[in-house]
Amino acid sequence: MALRDSILQVLEQNRDVYISGQMLADQLGVSRAGICKAIHTLISQGYRIDSVTNKGYRLSSENNILSTEGIRVFLCEQLYNCTIHVYDEIDSTNAECKRLALQGAEEFTIVVANSQTNGRGRLGRSFYSPSDTGIYISFILRPNLDLPSATLITTAISVAVCKAIEKITGLSPSIKWINDIYLNGKKICGILTEAISDFESGTVDSVICGIGVNVFTSDSQFPEELQSIAGSLFPVSGSALNRNQLAAQIVNEFYHFYKNLTSDSFMAEYRSRSAVLGKHIYYIKNGVKYYGTATDITQSGALVVIRDDGPTEILSSGEITLRLD
Ligand code: BTN
Repeated sequence: MALRDSILQVLEQNRDVYISGQMLADQLGVSRAGICKAIHTLISQGYRIDSVTNKGYRLSSENNILSTEGIRVFLCEQLYNCTIHVYDEIDSTNAECKRLALQGAEEFTIVVANSQTNGRGRLGRSFYSPSDTGIYISFILRPNLDLPSATLITTAISVAVCKAIEKITGLSPSIKWINDIYLNGKKICGILTEAISDFESGTVDSVICGIGVNVFTSDSQFPEELQSIAGSLFPVSGSALNRNQLAAQIVNEFYHFYKNLTSDSFMAEYRSRSAVLGKHIYYIKNGVKYYGTATDITQSGALVVIRDDGPTEILSSGEITLRLD
């Protein structure tokens, strides 16, 4: 590991505590001068590191740079050694994961970016991905599943994202079927899962899971057309939330479901976090608008709707646009 990454790892593991240059030097087996030089490089790269004579160094609470080691220290034991790529800017973390998957990258290879120039959303939409205010993260899965079972992955991610946000911030987001995460009536997170499948066997070769969370984006930062629908966890500045920690916690929570992927482990929680159950909604299917009440979510994640004009419909396709009435 490069010296700068090792220093970041130690500082991240000891947030709030000053570590002397000598301690860092002893722990990492380099000279104090080497530590001093590496710290200056980190500061010149934008890391906020407090440095106090006779005390040493610590990561400033204002430090919010996404980094490989910053994320790694928060990953659970089973994921600690996974490959993590962090970019300041990339076209799309999903696109990068796809490229890596096709080159044979391992399960739980993680790609994180501080901004995306071509962030992609569902149904061919784009995902607004400005720098410094969000988390854009994708990871590769290699599940041994058929396509219908693989759709459970998206549902599990929705619950994992809510749990991670709740654990770290105390906020309680809800899920708008099928996989949009809402807080205070605005979408704060979108999820895009894409499968690379093997046509011959009908099985899934790999699944790319992409999650975009708006963390610090203020209302006025969103393009005008998104301002009434998009929100963020902390639209007003002042939170010291560590984006590295939230990114890692999302993957940890998902891993917990994924190691034994059955809907029994998360569907009850998906329902209890649903923003649509019991609500009057409308949806557009094949260009036709229908009104009804969402009454249930099945074990496979389909939405049961009793239409105002009588019939009960079971919506299982993400190709449907659904709105609260
Ligand atoms: C949606 O709301 O339609 C889904 C948005 C998914 C956005 C995330 S950001 C990280 C990953 N990379 C992408 O290009 N898209 C996903």
